[in-house]
Order: sequence, then structure tokens, then C-alpha cells
Amino acid sequence: MITTCLFPAAGYGTRFLPATKAMPKEMLPVMTKPLIQYGVEEAIEAGCDVMAVITGRGKRAITDHFDISYELEHQIKGSSKEGLLKDIRSIIEQCTFTYTRQNEMKGLGDAIYKGKVLVGDDKPFAVILADDLCVNPEGDGVLKQMVELYEKYRCCIVATMEVPMEEVHKYGVIEGNKIEDNIYMVSNMVEKPEVDKAPTNLAVIGRYILTPEIFNVIKETKPGKNGELQITDALCAQAKKGMVIAYRFKGKRFDCGSVDGFVEATNYFYKESQG
Ligand code: G1P
Repeated sequence: MITTCLFPAAGYGTRFLPATKAMPKEMLPVMTKPLIQYGVEEAIEAGCDVMAVITGRGKRAITDHFDISYELEHQIKGSSKEGLLKDIRSIIEQCTFTYTRQNEMKGLGDAIYKGKVLVGDDKPFAVILADDLCVNPEGDGVLKQMVELYEKYRCCIVATMEVPMEEVHKYGVIEGNKIEDNIYMVSNMVEKPEVDKAPTNLAVIGRYILTPEIFNVIKETKPGKNGELQITDALCAQAKKGMVIAYRFKGKRFDCGSVDGFVEATNYFYKESQG
């Protein structure tokens, strides 16, 4: 049902300078795997086979990563290193990667709008922000949980988690009524509110299921926080019509857009790899 996952990946990654001066932040590795590959694997697990990436200048490494490297593969063929490319090779075989560029940084809403040409305007699609690295050691990945929920509700879905009140200014925040365990009918959404203006401490995490109407709504949405076109504002307009639910997902999320979260993720995956 949902076969396309959009990856907005045009941001500068200024929090990781100088590492991100010439390298896309989405290519920063947690252990030996780039952040965006974790996202792509989560999307595949959820049933997607088209990965639509919104890139920008200086992001070519992403395109190259999801392509065959004949020279490298020839070089290591038959050696013990060959196995290290097994996963990425299987990803390339299973999926189609499509790309378009966001020429100017006009916000996440604008980046998603740019994806229209890749995802089409007639079917629902998923969105993963690769710097939110999510794992669920207990079962299904976060996107798969959301895709299953979509089958039931057939509306936009945002992933949410509780954050400390002093951190709400970093997130889109939702307000809503609980309609089931871990599920809210969203009535209001605010992008990066100051602590005294935040309706709740339920933050939006970088996983979305969007229905195609969102493109028209984004078109009608005015620039918001920081003068950028915010997907939160477009979704808020949909929420006012009762067309957005928020899902408190099962699993753990690392904020790999920050150095602390990135180190935490690295420690977690290192520990996992040691059994
Ligand atoms: C974006 C969204 C925000 C969301 C966050 C999740 O913000 O605009 O609503 O809560 O991702 O990580 P960013 O972190 O890109 O500034």
C-alpha cells in the first residue's frame, strides 16, 4: 500500500561542522553504516521499495552510496571484505532510488513539496528524517508500526514521544485527544514553541505518513517558524479537519542531529555489536 519513502536530505548539518563541510550529514556513520542507510533499511522493513531522496548541493555521496561501485567491488571480490558490502548490495537490488534537489533551504515543508515529482500526487507515502535514528529491539521498526496503523486510519500519521518540557522548543509539538492506547487524534500542532506556549510535551519525531492532499495544503501554507515553510503548519491545517493522528511508537529514538544523540547512538550500536 505504501511503497514510497521520502528522505529530505538537503540540510547543511551545521551542528557537525567541520565534518559536514564536504560530506552530507546523512552519510555520517554510526559504527560502519551511514545514518541514511539505517533509514532506508527501516523503510524496506515497512514495505517500501522506492526511496525518494531530496538532496541539495554537496550531497552526491548519497547518490553514490546507493549505487554499484564497480571498481571497489572488483577490488575486494573473493576477499574477506566482500561480506561488508552484502547489505548495501541487497538494498540496491531491492529498491529504486530517485532524487531531486531542493535548491534553496526553505524548510521541511518545502523539501517535502519538492518530493511531489518523485512520489506522485495520488498515493500516500512515508517520510523519514534520517537524523532521527529509530530502533525497536522488541519488534517491528517504527515506520512499519505506522504503516500498519495507516491501514486502519487512512489519514496522516506523525510519530510522537514525550520529551522534557525544556526541550519542546526543538520540536513540532502536538495537542490531541487520546483515542486508543498510544494514539491521539491531533487537534493542534505548533512548530518549536517556547516552553510557555507549548500545548503539551508530545514531540513529533522524524517519521510521517502523509496522504497526497498534503501537497495542496503545503502550497497554501505560509512560511512559519524561522521564516521557513513548516510541514508542522501544513499538518496542523489537516489536523483541524480531523485528518491527522499521532502515534506514540514502540522503540527508541536517537537524535543524531545533535552530537550527544549521535554519540549515544554509537554507544548503543557498539554495545549491540558486542552481543
Ligand atoms: C524537524 C521538524 C520538527 C520535528 C523534528 C523531528 O525539525 O520541523 O517538527 O519535531 O524535525 O526531529 P528539525 O529537527 O529538522 O529542525
